[in-house]
Parts: sequence; structure tokens; C-alpha cells
Amino acid sequence: MIVKVNLPINAYEIKIERGVLSKAGKELNLNRKVMIVTDDGVPSKYSEVLSAQCLNASVFVLKQGEESKNLDNFAAIEKALLENGFSRKDCVVALGGGVVGDLAGFAASCFMRGIDFYNIPTTVLSQVDSSVGGKTAVDFNGVKNIVGTFYQPKKVLIDPDVLNTLSDRQKANGLVEAVKMAATFDAELFEEFEKVERFEDLDIEYVIGKAIQLKADVVEKDEKEAGLRKVLNFGHTLGHGVEAALQNTDAPLLHGECVGMGMTVMCDEDVKERIVKILDMLKIPSTYSFDFDEALEAVTHDKKLNGKTISTVYVSKIGTYEMIDMTPDELAERLRKLLG
Ligand SMILES: NC(=O)c1ccc[n+]([C@@H]2O[C@H](COP(=O)([O-])OP(=O)(O)OC[C@H]3O[C@@H](n4cnc5c(N)ncnc54)[C@H](O)[C@@H]3O)[C@@H](O)[C@H]2O)c1
Ligand SMILES: [Zn+2]
Repeated sequence: MIVKVNLPINAYEIKIERGVLSKAGKELNLNRKVMIVTDDGVPSKYSEVLSAQCLNASVFVLKQGEESKNLDNFAAIEKALLENGFSRKDCVVALGGGVVGDLAGFAASCFMRGIDFYNIPTTVLSQVDSSVGGKTAVDFNGVKNIVGTFYQPKKVLIDPDVLNTLSDRQKANGLVEAVKMAATFDAELFEEFEKVERFEDLDIEYVIGKAIQLKADVVEKDEKEAGLRKVLNFGHTLGHGVEAALQNTDAPLLHGECVGMGMTVMCDEDVKERIVKILDMLKIPSTYSFDFDEALEAVTHDKKLNGKTISTVYVSKIGTYEMIDMTPDELAERLRKLLG
């Protein structure tokens, strides 16, 4: 399946196909210097398969984890590009999850004011979410994604087979973003999740393709996040709060897990029941123990704070959404429901 991201300039294609990693040389122009950026949690066999298809490959391996998405590693990649004699005609390929994609994309966008960037996302989350939208970033001064650019890849390759090595927890984490797209835009896709008792029974290729298409439709209409793109924040306003409150604890939750919880209190009661059932199937909690004050602080100091209210995405019917302005008190009340 091919999803076209039809942007006025810098349009690109996302190809979703089992085994496409081993055909990357046919899909991408690798007949030049290629900097493959990956991390040490991504099985090295994937970068070996990719390197073998490049004329001249260098592999840059990051330490796995969000902590690697920083300016030091950005500088280290720029240095490697320079030392290996990369020119404007060469390219960078991200081969990994969202951490690798965001950092490698940012590095490519800045080297010589921008060299070709290809993305080969290898987690469900990066396949369904960060492969579309052109956002690149690093974390800085304790603030996530605060330094970055909008920079579209030349092409994205998605090989569902690479997910065979991904943990179940990481898979479920990424699927939440697809559930989010379904809940706000596509009742039929939502029903696909309701049909199965275990996520292993999902047609993952179909789900990923559908979710990407939905996100591409949104991004095409609002490339630089002026309005519509806010819908992608369904579940995120309160989810971020919980994520922030848990980040330095013994039992942190992954981003998608927090977003899943966040969705359950931003919808009507019957919608909530349906979302909770899917979260159960994904083995994701609907309530959790966290420091309430810390979470609320993170929510109300969020960059989306707009005067006295916060604009939030609310779902009263699956497949549709509305934007509702909520006061900090109302948000606190909803956040409290997530405490378990
Ligand atoms: N640019 C965007 O639009 C966008 C959207 C969503 C998220 N993000 C960013 O993405 C990041 C999160 O991405 P993520 O959830 O992919 O996390 P991640 O990149 O940290 O990957 C999760 C873990 O999976 C491992 N891994 C990756 N592929 C694997 C594979 N095929 N087999 C086995 N292990 C594998 C990694 O080594 C890592 O330990 C965050 O930094 C977030 O800000 C960006
Ligand atoms: Zn998200």
C-alpha cells in the first residue's frame, strides 16, 4: 500500500509493504553516501540489510531511549557527516523508532541547510505517528521536542515484518495512536479493534496503513499545525500530565499508554466503555497511581494553555470529534478520574 502525503511542496510517499526493507535500494536513491542512524535497541540485522544496499554507508548507533534525543547527539551526527565528507547530494536514513526519526530528521534538516532524509520507522508508534507530519526535534533544557524543524522526508518505507522483534508492550503502545485516529475519524477502523480479543489477531498492515492515511489527510490540510492538526491531541492533554508525573518514578508509563488513559475521560460514557474495552485488549491500564498535583501542574502549564481555558479534543460519537474549551478546574476533575 502507498499513502501519498500531498503537500504543496515536498510531497512524498509512504510505502507500506512486508519485506520492503530488503528492497530499500530499489525504493530509495542509496547510490551515494548514506548515513544510517539507528539505536542499540534496534536489532543490528536491520542496519546490515540496509547497509548492504548502499553504495557507501556509514552507520551511526545511538544509545536507545528518549535521553538520546539531545543536542549533543545532534552535534555528533553533524560531525560524523562532516568527517565522512557528506555533501548536499548525499542522504540520511533513520532506521528506528521515533527517537531515531526525530533526531536524524533534525540533523538532516540542518546539515548544509538540509540534505535528503528518508525514514524507515521500526516501531508501531513511529510507523503510525511520526512517519507523517515532518516534525523533527530534540529535547532541550528538560523540555521535550522544544528545538526542531518541520522537514519532510523524501520517502518513508514501512516494513511490518520488522515489528516481529518489537516487544508486545511497545506494539500496544503504538497501536493507541491508531485507536486515537480511529476514535476521532473512522468508526470502521475503530470496529477493527473491537473485533479482536488479542492484538496479535489484528491485521496490523491494514491498521497501520489506515491510521497513516487518516493522519496524512489531517497533515495535508494543516501542515504547520495552525488548527485542524490539534485533533491529533485527543487523549494527549491529560495523558501528557500523567506521563510527566510518572517520568522519574519506578513505574513510568509509555507515551501511548498515557494517551490511552487520557482518551477515556475526554468522551461520553458509552464511548468511554468502548475505549476501555480496547485498552483492556491492549493490556493498557485505564487508571493508574500517580502524583495528582504534579500531573495537574504539567497539564495547566502545557504550551496549549490559551487564556483561562484549554482547548481539548472531545469525542461524543466514535468517528467524530469536537473541540471544547475546558477550565483548569474541569480538567482537574477529569484528571482525578484517572487516579487508581
Ligand atoms: N515526529 C513526530 O511527529 C512524532 C510523533 C510521535 C512521537 N514522536 C517521538 O517519538 C519518540 C517515541 O518513539 P517510539 O515510541 O518509537 O520510541 P523509541 O524510538 O524510543 O523506540 C522504543 C524502543 O524500541 C526499540 N526498537 C525500535 N525498533 C525496534 C524493533 N523493530 N525491534 C525491537 N526493538 C525495537 C528501540 O531501541 C527503543 O528501545 C518520542 O521521542 C516522541 O517525541 C515524534
Ligand atoms: Zn502521541
